[in-house]
Amino acid sequence: MSKNINIDDERRNIIRRKDDYLKNIVSLHKDLSEIHDLDAVLDYMLTKARELTNSDSGTIYIKEDDKLNFSYAQNDSLFTSNLDNKNLYLNASVDINSKSISGYCAKHGKLINIKNAYKLADSLPYKFNSKPDKKSGYHTKSILTAPIMNVQNKVIGVIQLLNAQNLEGKIIKFSKTDELLITYFANNVSMHIERTDLTRKMILRMIRMAALHDIEETAPHVNRVGAYSSELYEHWALKNEVRKSKIKLMKGNIRLSAMLHDIGKLAVSDLILKKPARFTTNERDVMKFHTIYGARLFSEPDSEVDTLAYSIAMNHHENWDGTGYPGKIEDIFSNQIQIKAGKKNNEIPIEGQIVKICDVYDALISHRCYKNAWSKDQTLQAIKCGSGTEFNPKLVKYFFEIYDTIDAIRKKYSENNH
Ligand SMILES: [Fe+2]
Ligand SMILES: [Fe+2]
Repeated sequence: MSKNINIDDERRNIIRRKDDYLKNIVSLHKDLSEIHDLDAVLDYMLTKARELTNSDSGTIYIKEDDKLNFSYAQNDSLFTSNLDNKNLYLNASVDINSKSISGYCAKHGKLINIKNAYKLADSLPYKFNSKPDKKSGYHTKSILTAPIMNVQNKVIGVIQLLNAQNLEGKIIKFSKTDELLITYFANNVSMHIERTDLTRKMILRMIRMAALHDIEETAPHVNRVGAYSSELYEHWALKNEVRKSKIKLMKGNIRLSAMLHDIGKLAVSDLILKKPARFTTNERDVMKFHTIYGARLFSEPDSEVDTLAYSIAMNHHENWDGTGYPGKIEDIFSNQIQIKAGKKNNEIPIEGQIVKICDVYDALISHRCYKNAWSKDQTLQAIKCGSGTEFNPKLVKYFFEIYDTIDAIRKKYSENNH
């Protein structure tokens, strides 16, 4: 009797999984076409691939020259909460050669399905690197590694899934169906990886252009502010019970739009921006207009990223207590804009409040032409002091709660590493 029930359960499970496969395959391009940020695409890809193969963890590497750069990871056993997002900002890479599993996969464009990582035949050219296991206490057993191929049939990265599980949670080998599925995913997601990678690179090119004009807005600075802001948004959103699917989408959109927070400085005269001395009151007033110039660029939004970029450009200098700028402006295209009282508390959109704290933190802890880098202690003290005046006190609290991740981002996008 119990055997019959098991067979029925097994059948139901097979039918349910077939249903899941179909639903995921049908919705793949529709879902991905709404995602504009690279990390959000990688997150989507890993989530789906892991759900469908019932695997415990996964990593994506993106090819850059002759290396595979660690680009995204998920691990149910090790990353138990969003406070562990620091693991997403590791600076690690693998050489593309036959010595490692992922390197072999990228070099030869071949899928590799391993039953037990610790029992690889000596005759194989690649070896399993057990160092990450030793460091983290994780135990890798089954591994499925597949090349991510673009439409020109070139390898652009590698996806690796670890520890497939059966219904009882026992680690098993990845199946033939898993192999087909991962190949389908890898091939179909590649165009979205390339598209979003291009978006990020185009933004960085714009920033490099802007940096010719404004030496403070370097590519690493905007990369850091974008990544800090997306993490702080996620933490805020989880505390405020925002839907998980909305968080994933917004996290990527905020990352891109936060990178553009100071793009309006392009419209401010070099004579002011590059002035080696302190600004006069008049010059400071002119500088304040960079918020409005930035907002003008995104005033006819085509996407959620445009809408957020408008809001962030406009609000990233507002203070929680109402002493910031530019305040409420009725017509941002008027020739007679007067900057008066700043917006206050929740009159400031949350994305503006988030980028404010991230931008100030990064400016203080980094070297600028007019100041040396502050120490970590001095910077964190200043952030604490700004709670309730410059910054929303709740966001300051959340910022400290994810500080390990903020610090990991700072290390990943240091001035010499972008
Ligand atoms: Fe600014
Ligand atoms: Fe900035």
